[in-house]
Parts: sequence; C-alpha cells; structure tokens
Amino acid sequence: MIDLYSDTKTKPTAAMRAAMAAAEVGDDHFGEDPTVQALQDFLAEKLGKEAALFLPSATMANQIALKVHTQPGDSVICHELCHIRLFEGGTPAVLSGVMLDVVTGERGVFTGDQVRAAIRPSGPYFPPTRLVCVENTHNFCGGAVWTMAELDDVVVAVREAGLKLHLDGSRLFNAAVTLGGVEGAWAMAQRLVRDFDTVTVCLTKGLGAPIGALLLGTKEPIEVARRWKHAIGGAMRQSGIVAAGGLYALQHHLPQLALDHENAQILAQGLAEIPGLKLSPWPETNLVFVDIAGTGLSGDAFKARLKAQGVVCSGSGSRPRFVTHLGVGRAEISEALTVIRAVCS
Ligand SMILES: Cc1ncc(COP(=O)(O)O)c(C=O)c1O
Repeated sequence: MIDLYSDTKTKPTAAMRAAMAAAEVGDDHFGEDPTVQALQDFLAEKLGKEAALFLPSATMANQIALKVHTQPGDSVICHELCHIRLFEGGTPAVLSGVMLDVVTGERGVFTGDQVRAAIRPSGPYFPPTRLVCVENTHNFCGGAVWTMAELDDVVVAVREAGLKLHLDGSRLFNAAVTLGGVEGAWAMAQRLVRDFDTVTVCLTKGLGAPIGALLLGTKEPIEVARRWKHAIGGAMRQSGIVAAGGLYALQHHLPQLALDHENAQILAQGLAEIPGLKLSPWPETNLVFVDIAGTGLSGDAFKARLKAQGVVCSGSGSRPRFVTHLGVGRAEISEALTVIRAVCS
C-alpha cells in the first residue's frame, strides 16, 4: 500500500523508537518529566519564545490558544478555509464561546487591509474583535507558504488595532525549509514566528513523531494555557516517552521535509502530464491537490479505484489530496503515478 493520505500517517522510525524507549520520565502533572521539559525548553529556545507547553495534539494547542486570548462573545478573525474553523469540531464555540469572522484569500493568505475591514466597530451592538489567526503552511489551500511580506502586512494591522495574533504553525517547518532551506530552517522558523503572541507547532505531521504538539509564547499566556491543559484533560503523566519522539524529530527530521517537497514536485509534474488532471494549486510544500473534473470520474470513484490498486489519497469532492512524507520514497511516487495514469486512462 502506498499511503499518500496524510503526513500524519508517518510511523516512528527505529531510531525514534529507541530514543523513546530510553527516555527519562516523571509525572508531568507536577512538571516532573525531564524529557517533556527538555522538549519544551529546546523548542522555546530555538524559536526565540519564552515558554512552551507540550500538548497531545495541534487541535488542542489551537483551541487552548483561542481560550487564552478571548472571552465568550469575542470575535476572532481567521481565513474561511483554516483548520481551526473547518476541522476542529466547532470547538471555538464550545470551549471559548467566540464567533469567527472569516476573511477570504488565495493560498489561505489575507492582507492587513482585510483584517482592518473585518474588525468590528466598538459599541454595545458588536462583539469585540480580539484575535487574528494565521495558518502557515495553509493545509486546505494547498500547503501554501506565507511570504514574509504577507505576514508583516498582517502583523502591522494587528498591532495597530491592539489585537492578539495566533499562528497555527502545525506545518511551520515545511514553511521554514521552503523559505530558508534545510541549513537556514531554524533561523527562518524563528523569524516566521517572531511577531506571534502564540504559536502551535505539531510534531506528528511531516516531522514524523507519533503524538504531540506544542503551544509557544511569552510566559503569561503559556501559564494560562497550562491551566487549560489540565482542565480539559491534556496533562499526561509519564509523557516523556512520547515527548522523546518529538525531540528526536525536531533534531533529526528537518532534512526529510525538503525530500518530501522534492517528491511533491515530482508527483505534481507526473500528475500534470495525465490528461484530465489539473494541479489545484501547484504545490509549494508537501500537499498536492489535484482537480480531477476533466477525467469524468467522481472523487469517490477515483479514490476507490486507486485504493483497489494500492494507492491511498484523501480529499473531498473532485479535488483529491496526495501528501508526501517520510513513509513514501521516490520509487513509491513513480509507482503511484503509474497507478494514477492507469486509473485515468
Ligand atoms: C493546519 C492544521 N492545523 C491543525 C491540525 C490538527 O492537528 P492534530 O491532528 O494534531 O490535532 C491539522 C491536522 O491535520 C492541520 O493540518
């Protein structure tokens, strides 16, 4: 089976499992797990943030960030197709009681002027706008990478208005490797998160760890986040076992992301040559969306036929998604293309 469903399908490597097996652990409820501490300290230092908090998932990190920055009845500005809005179970309404004011934009990117226009007027009729959320890379918009100029434009508008700024950087390192190369990835990642009050980083996507994400920021919001981590059951006792996998991933797997991006380009080139297929959009990182309308097949039929021949992809409607990751090498990419060609012919 060639599984291109998601980069979340990655399994821990033997070396990662060895690091996990050897991890020193303690009770993280009491801040006594040295490996969780080491992971938090490592990432906070590398990203230039004061504090970091290890959490079970990026969904929890995002939703705790919303909780930290808002009060019930507040408004949060985000892109209409962001993960926080589409795929996190309506939790902004449940946990934080906030409303989402959406902005649009190609590639999941919006402008400072769009933020200014979406800020609610003050006065008793309106929900106070408190927070702006950015997603980088942007999953549903094709793994798109915000340029520094695009980010800076939003930061200016957010600061002018005295709002808070959260980054869903679940795939932050895909953006950092794209803009800075493997050698410059850490410096680039630090620059990409510099102006955000809180940042989510996920360990279980292209980085390949089995469990976990971190929320980073200054000490104050992260202390409030710690309370919510406990309150909603996100505190995990001897979680150094899994934190060790995350630490290993951050220290060893950034070069893999560059390979994933190369494989995505090879896959995209091959797909673009198949009659009836159109890249939608052209991939910038490891997420490859393809418009299959020209084949006459429904999305479900396309996916079912691929699966019957051993290739798995995800996505909805006539826009399936293929994701490259450390479990899929160059040979599997060309094998997958052979199958896709046959299915489309
Ligand atoms: C952009 C983005 N944010 C957040 C998440 C949630 O991650 P998790 O599965 O760790 O909750 C995902 C998952 O795919 C994602 O793509």
